[in-house]
Amino acid sequence: MTPFVERIMFNMKAIILDLDGVICHTDEYHYLAWKAMADGLGVYFDREINNRLRGVSRMASLEIVLENYTGQLSQAEKEALAEQKNELYKESLKQMSPADLSEEVKSTLDTLRSRGYKLAIGSSSKNAPFILQQIGLGGYFDAISDGNNITRSKPDPEVFVKAAEMLCVPCAECLVVEDAVAGAQAGHAGGMRVACVGDAAAEKAGDYNLTSFRELLEVVL
Ligand code: BG6
Ligand code: MG
Repeated sequence: MTPFVERIMFNMKAIILDLDGVICHTDEYHYLAWKAMADGLGVYFDREINNRLRGVSRMASLEIVLENYTGQLSQAEKEALAEQKNELYKESLKQMSPADLSEEVKSTLDTLRSRGYKLAIGSSSKNAPFILQQIGLGGYFDAISDGNNITRSKPDPEVFVKAAEMLCVPCAECLVVEDAVAGAQAGHAGGMRVACVGDAAAEKAGDYNLTSFRELLEVVL
């Protein structure tokens, strides 16, 4: 189906974007922090395992990292490990600046807005507001739904459904943009169309599987 037909048929009004791995490359900082935590515990961890953490909440990610751990951990010990990872991750975030927002992403977002689309963030991260501030996008989006306002992580659609509610746009009129297979599944579960970049595009998880962020401009006219 051509983008023009998409717009007419689905009456597309809003675009809900994932943050980590879509708007900016905090996904590498997540990897480095989990790797350091896993190394400290003597647990095997690599980039392939890391790909399974995309879009998944912090505690659910920890459970995946611990799949290769043979010992027993109490809930308090697990929470301490998640906190340890988050402290390492936040150190990386402190170094971020508007220079970490690419010209391609910023100009694509500006063009989408000028075409009349509402723009929202739909991220599993509790650090999303801080990251947006760091890269100069604090206050840019029409709505932010993130790890602080959800109880169920992607692939559950909650984060996107809440973003659509904040925008007052029906789910069927929203397009989700994701780099995570779990995120693409969440968008579909919420009854939304999905455009993928990166890992999820390679897995052909979206209705559109893009080779660049800019290509979004060819999907939503
Ligand atoms: C998602 C990332 O955006 O946020 C996941 O893709 C991460 O990898 C999740 O686990 C939760 O992030 P945070 O910042 O709340 O630990
Ligand atoms: Mg992501």
